Amino acid sequence: RHSLRQRIYEINRIAARWFYRNLRELPIAENARRYLDKRGLSRKVQDSFGLGYAPDGWEGLLKHLKEKGFEVEDIFQAGLISERKGQSGHYDRFRSRIIFPILDAQGRVTAFGGRITGEGEPKYLNSPETPVFHKGRMLYGLNWAAKTIRAEDRVVIVEGYMDVIAAHQFGAFNTVASLGTAFTPEQGKLLMRFSKNISIAYDSDTAGAKATMRGLDILQSLGAKVRVGQLPEGMDPDDYLRRKGIDEFQRLVATEALSLIEYKLALAMKEYDIGSIEGRVAIVNFLVPDLARLKSAVEREEYIRLVAERLDLSPEAVQTEIRLHSRNSE
Ligand code: GTP
Ligand code: MN
Ligand code: MN
Ligand code: MN
Ligand code: MN
Repeated sequence: RHSLRQRIYEINRIAARWFYRNLRELPIAENARRYLDKRGLSRKVQDSFGLGYAPDGWEGLLKHLKEKGFEVEDIFQAGLISERKGQSGHYDRFRSRIIFPILDAQGRVTAFGGRITGEGEPKYLNSPETPVFHKGRMLYGLNWAAKTIRAEDRVVIVEGYMDVIAAHQFGAFNTVASLGTAFTPEQGKLLMRFSKNISIAYDSDTAGAKATMRGLDILQSLGAKVRVGQLPEGMDPDDYLRRKGIDEFQRLVATEALSLIEYKLALAMKEYDIGSIEGRVAIVNFLVPDLARLKSAVEREEYIRLVAERLDLSPEAVQTEIRLHSRNSE
């Protein structure tokens, strides 16, 4: 008899096939098929990411898996069904949703995400944590991206399923998603097994900016060479690729990606009033810890010059602030 983990992988594999066939064959999946076409996903990329459909109804998948000989308890452990409240029995977790199978680096189906095609909440529903799925340790798309990440020695992190799929459709094969905005040190360590050159390209909104800062700090402290692909306000990589194309996207996330200090400087210059002395002091103080941390004297001098220039200060003044900071934190 196989272990619970092995049984869950097997259940997930069969479930993924069932979802996939539903999307391709069910008449009621027509609106899902039309939705994906409207979003511009080619049939080829839909197939290679194994997209599927969970129909409305309470136990289509449960029935299918039972017919295949799986135990209800194992299907529950796999996160595919929920317990009915106040009575016995279970019902399908994913209903009326487009399904995104989540594969690990070895290509095993560890979990699923499901998107509604209309309005409503939640927009995306994921599998719960299970013996094979720990959201904070997973990177969506890694199994498809791993080879290219190694070959190009660069990886791009985006927020969502649609961003990864668009990136692959357009040819940016080194893209993975952290699934939502909470980037973790575990995801960072996993990523760095493939490349230390990491570009963050999160959605250009408040949540994305916050997550970018967090990601920068985590990756920096893990020793990665991290940069930011700053998208125009309100856009995400999927939007940007469809509007501007692959060359502009590559420029943004690679050749013209911002370093940690460039990104924080740009952010602070939006946040504070650069017209006032207080504002400029606040910006310098915001940047000082990162400037002080730079080990290379050449790099530090270069950035001091950049910050001074942008804020119309003398390099000496910025240098003095760094010295004061270093003394205080001793
Ligand atoms: P589209 O709206 O289809 O383009 O998707 P998106 O990826 O742009 O969505 P968004 O920027 O809102 O979210 C980014 C990622 O966060 C998604 O791909 C999901 O992985 C995750 N996410 C978004 N909304 C939810 C939610 O309501 N619940 C959960 N669990 N995850 C979510
Ligand atoms: Mn959202
Ligand atoms: Mn977002
Ligand atoms: Mn988005
Ligand atoms: Mn989007």
